[in-house]
Amino acid sequence: MDLSRGILVTGAGGQLGAALCAEFQPDARVIPLTRKEWDVTLPPPAGLPEVDVVLHAAAWTDVDGAEASPQDAAAVNVGGTQHVLELGAPVVLFSTDYVFDGHKREPYGESDAPNPLSVYGRTKLQAEAVAGEDAWIVRTSWLHGWAGTNFVRTMLRLGAERDEVSVVDDQRGSPTYVGHLAAAVRELLDLPQGRWHLSGGGDCTWADFAEATFETAGIDCHVRRIATAELDRPAPRPAYSVLRSERADAPELPHWRDGLRASMERLSG
Ligand SMILES: NC(=O)c1ccc[n+]([C@@H]2O[C@H](COP(=O)([O-])OP(=O)(O)OC[C@H]3O[C@@H](n4cnc5c(N)ncnc54)[C@H](OP(=O)(O)O)[C@@H]3O)[C@@H](O)[C@H]2O)c1
Repeated sequence: MDLSRGILVTGAGGQLGAALCAEFQPDARVIPLTRKEWDVTLPPPAGLPEVDVVLHAAAWTDVDGAEASPQDAAAVNVGGTQHVLELGAPVVLFSTDYVFDGHKREPYGESDAPNPLSVYGRTKLQAEAVAGEDAWIVRTSWLHGWAGTNFVRTMLRLGAERDEVSVVDDQRGSPTYVGHLAAAVRELLDLPQGRWHLSGGGDCTWADFAEATFETAGIDCHVRRIATAELDRPAPRPAYSVLRSERADAPELPHWRDGLRASMERLSG
């Protein structure tokens, strides 16, 4: 794609937004908009320049909070996507593995039928419908990076404070380093619009991911493997949400263990 007019990034203060800006800023004109600069529940601010593409990374991502505030979550995820489309530029919408119910035991492809279990998942699926055929719809999973909070940063904090942490061992997915996803998005811009599953290679449970985090960081903290039911969280989550692309030309992301190493190097650097 010709990017001579530039790229607008919504949610630029979030973990994916920050990675998208870092990926494209060296060679393109990037307009990073945080929530302060554009609250996407409102129409686009006046005076935004024309761009070649909008990377729409702003979202309500508090999965449990969405259960108590479904209208607020929809205002951001569905209404926000409508407002982004008003710009009239091609859009990359980021969606989630939580559009699936997790009943499969082999990776979900783009043609699998979604059936979200949570309010968050439903709002993201509605956002996909709003974005329509003309958008790139990137479904991804278990993001971690250097901006904002995420599982890896939480484990590093807890591991430094405690000898043991309890982590669920009955949800399986694919952790994805935002730097690797952002590089894949660059490739995607030269591929056709439509749904694309882009996640880190391989899969694991959250408990496996916590253990790998401690191993990589050299932290001596025991992971107690627990069932999701023990946590009693408001939002149901899919037990299995590994994503793989069925499309031969899909950008391939490195294995999640390589993503974890890259993420921790970035965090410590
Ligand atoms: N995190 C994951 O594991 C995961 C997995 C699959 C898919 N995704 C999808 O990937 C995308 C990026 O997620 P992420 O992990 O980067 O999330 P994030 O770190 O929570 O970033 C989301 C950003 O959106 C901003 N935002 C929230 N409400 C807004 C509003 N009304 N107007 C403008 N900005 C608003 C947030 O700002 P504040 O910080 O000020 O609230 C934050 O900077 C989202 O579409 C998400 O659904 C995420």
